[in-house]
Amino acid sequence: MTVQDDKRAAAWAAAEEVTDGMVVGLGTGSTAAFLIARLADRVSGGLRITAVATSLATERAARDAGIMVVAFDDLAEIDLAIDGVDEIDPQLRAVKGAGGAMLREKIIAAAARRMIAIADGSKRVAVLGAAPVPIEVLPLARAFVAAQLESLGGSARLRVIEGRSYRTDQDNAVLDCVFPDRPDLAALATQLSQIPGVLGHGLFLSEIDCAYISAAGVVTRLDR
Ligand code: A5P
Repeated sequence: MTVQDDKRAAAWAAAEEVTDGMVVGLGTGSTAAFLIARLADRVSGGLRITAVATSLATERAARDAGIMVVAFDDLAEIDLAIDGVDEIDPQLRAVKGAGGAMLREKIIAAAARRMIAIADGSKRVAVLGAAPVPIEVLPLARAFVAAQLESLGGSARLRVIEGRSYRTDQDNAVLDCVFPDRPDLAALATQLSQIPGVLGHGLFLSEIDCAYISAAGVVTRLDR
């Protein structure tokens, strides 16, 4: 049983919660890729769903797999969001955004009547904090926001891919920030949102209602 098998098992368990007629928010990342493949199978078997995507990559993958994807622009609410996580704690609080999609992921999660997290067992932690919190930043505010993060006790690093500043789907930069003193997360989330130039961050403290986590082939369901 590999990590990939566990990602697939968690994603397939969550896919069973998708029912006919739902508007489903599709997450981003390697675990969400298994979800997309599973839902595509179910769609080819007759399931009728409409999807919204949390990233351009997910939009392409879902369309290529035969899932109908619509623009989120005109939707105020969706039925269900299913997405991966970088870390998740026993209270179903999570860090997301290693793939850079946390801003759209947060919007889709907030719009969803219900959100399910899917993960392999390595993502399960007692206390959040080993994974850096990704913060989407307007590029011109990068140094200013980094200084503000330092004043909150964080250590921020500009995400660089192949020698260039990484850009999100919205063409913004990402600061990956570690908070070594493990601050109060609710207070931190509020403080992050209040920094001018911060467009979003990867702390998901209240959005997740349920998680399917697979470790060594055993899928565990956790509910808030
Ligand atoms: C995308 O920005 C992220 O939030 C992903 O959902 C998260 O990093 C989990 O990705 P994997 O399923 O690839 O681990």
